[in-house]
Amino acid sequence: MHYVVAYLGTNATCIHLRIVAARKNPTYDPPNASFDPDTAGGFRPAAALFRGIAVSRKRVAILISGRGSNMEALIVAAAEESYPAQIALVISNRSDAPGLRRAAAAAIATEIVDHTLYREDREKFEGALQEKLDAHRIDLVCLAGFMRLLSPNFVGKWQGRMLNIHPALLPAFKGLDTHARALEAGVKIHGATVHMVVPEVDSGPILAQAAVPVRESDTAETLAARVLDAEHRIYPAALKWLAEGRVRIVDGRCRIEGQVDADGLLFVPKIS
Ligand code: GRF
Repeated sequence: MHYVVAYLGTNATCIHLRIVAARKNPTYDPPNASFDPDTAGGFRPAAALFRGIAVSRKRVAILISGRGSNMEALIVAAAEESYPAQIALVISNRSDAPGLRRAAAAAIATEIVDHTLYREDREKFEGALQEKLDAHRIDLVCLAGFMRLLSPNFVGKWQGRMLNIHPALLPAFKGLDTHARALEAGVKIHGATVHMVVPEVDSGPILAQAAVPVRESDTAETLAARVLDAEHRIYPAALKWLAEGRVRIVDGRCRIEGQVDADGLLFVPKIS
């Protein structure tokens, strides 16, 4: 039966291959795993296909430079049959990025566009990126720890269709070393932001933010780990809204159609 499912295409194939990949590779251990290869196999992917869910799923490319834990969180989310996007491609600008192995283990197509081969010619580098995106018929792009600056021209081509995740509550702490800088500044609340990509770095309309408390005992590493957990939750949520066509930009700000407003307060330190 598995071989029959493999010929059905799109979502069914993708999920089926992931089942195979997970079975072949017992070390495959996605974060926040909601996909269990031993129980989600068999007929469910085919059923989803016949209901027509698979055909309208947006094709997403994830651009990485390193570890790829956010990439993996998106892959796991997209393995759900009701998720409105499929991860069709992972591109890294570094051939040694650990995320490439993780993507391949999940049976996702991978490409390397090595920026060092293009010297300082960003236009050529981005031309090569665009070629890969075109070849894989990509609808949406997610930057996930992609450590190259993108030109206004490239960003313009993907306007409204390219997301980034930043490990801070923007507009605070743009740039690098956000956790150490947050500790240095003595902020009590830190977090993560998913935003549309615009030419200016770590700017652009915000789709979602997650706040985490800063603890007295925190180091940059412990704080980073707490923020990363939050990243793995908001990125799949934000991509889902974008893929569903629920994100509109009004006066430079994101409106999420049908969003559920959050409530509650976070006090740091606790107020008794
Ligand atoms: C994340 O903290 C993300 O916010 C930032 O780079 C880091 C990438 O981590 N842009 P990973 O590769 O997703 O594990």
